[in-house]
Amino acid sequence: MLVDKHGRQLKDLRISVTDRCNFRCRYCMPREKFGSNHAFMPRRAFLSFEEIEKVVISCKELGLEKVRITGGEPLLRPKLHELIKKLSKLNLDIALTTNGSLLRKHAKDLAAAGLNRVTISLDALSQEIHTKMTDSQTSIETILDGIDAAIEFGLTPVKVNCVVQKGVNEAEVKKLVSHFQGTDVIVRFIEYMDVGCTNDWMLGQVIPSKDLLKYLQKDFDLIPINSISSSDVAKRWMHSDNSGEIGVISSVSNPFCGDCVRARLSANGYLHTCLFASGGHDLRAIIHNSENITTLTNAIKAIWARRDDRYSEQRSTGNSALPRIEMSYIGG
Ligand code: GTP
Ligand code: 5AD
Ligand code: SF4
Ligand code: SF4
Repeated sequence: MLVDKHGRQLKDLRISVTDRCNFRCRYCMPREKFGSNHAFMPRRAFLSFEEIEKVVISCKELGLEKVRITGGEPLLRPKLHELIKKLSKLNLDIALTTNGSLLRKHAKDLAAAGLNRVTISLDALSQEIHTKMTDSQTSIETILDGIDAAIEFGLTPVKVNCVVQKGVNEAEVKKLVSHFQGTDVIVRFIEYMDVGCTNDWMLGQVIPSKDLLKYLQKDFDLIPINSISSSDVAKRWMHSDNSGEIGVISSVSNPFCGDCVRARLSANGYLHTCLFASGGHDLRAIIHNSENITTLTNAIKAIWARRDDRYSEQRSTGNSALPRIEMSYIGG
């Protein structure tokens, strides 16, 4: 069995299919740093769907169980359903993370191609706060309609990810819980993280999950429920009257590196073994040139065996200043 230096398997591959996004969330792609002058990857550098499939097949041989398609915004990649169709033959759990703006348009094709489920990012129900956080013109109605489309076409369980930032959207948290109570949509609250180098992160802007739960418990009777798998990042809670589930992701206050089975593939073919890695492993030549999947499998195997990352557990003033990859480059 393949394990890294801390005994962790490779079970979850997150694949970024583009570094572009039609939103400019302040915490991910602030417009002043991702403006018209920003050098995105040239599109010709993107791995083709056949090449992505090769990487997934290689990882499957090493024990992969789950694939998540991300971006940037993955639905900006033309004909994404063709990639899903290829991957759906491999008998893996296939999920997609999206900002929801284009989901109504694509849900039917994605479901028909074999996508299992979607996670939609939604940080607020107030239009004003959403517009401010995402720096986009997309209406809340459009995103809620995207969520409805996901449910309609069976892309379930549908999850909603909300990044909570102190002084920005904490008042939206209760509204989101109320809105989705009584539905099968699972809202998860994520601690604002110091990903990348562009969002001017400060620890003071993080609301620890335990404080958030205390605040929610004033209005909702929530009880903890067991995780499905030890490597799941969210702690699960349910309404005591069985009217739905929520989750909290304590990436800052209670890091989960010990069970981290995730690898990330950038749109141009670099493999990253941590969300906070300063660099990736360039697989392009092997992906482009090798006819034989074994060469690629062996390369990934060697990278994983040397993996020593546990950034969030080691977070300190020392390492938070180190250069690292942007979230929009390797997905969530
Ligand atoms: P499921 O398969 O539905 O369990 O997906 P997931 O919860 O693993 O994936 P998702 O991408 O929705 O994760 C939610 C958020 O948790 C991400 O947007 C990140 O903010 C955070 N997160 C996910 N994986 C990691 C990780 O490996 N490290 C850290 N530090 N944060 C992570
Ligand atoms: N902190 C936490 N999560 C983030 N995401 C992006 N930037 C951050 C950040 N700074 C996550 C959001 C979004 C996904 C694409 O990436 O959850 O849903
Ligand atoms: Fe785009 Fe998602 Fe980043 Fe927002 S968080 S800018 S929607 S990739
Ligand atoms: Fe995994 Fe790195 Fe996140 Fe820790 S910080 S959970 S090692 S991706």
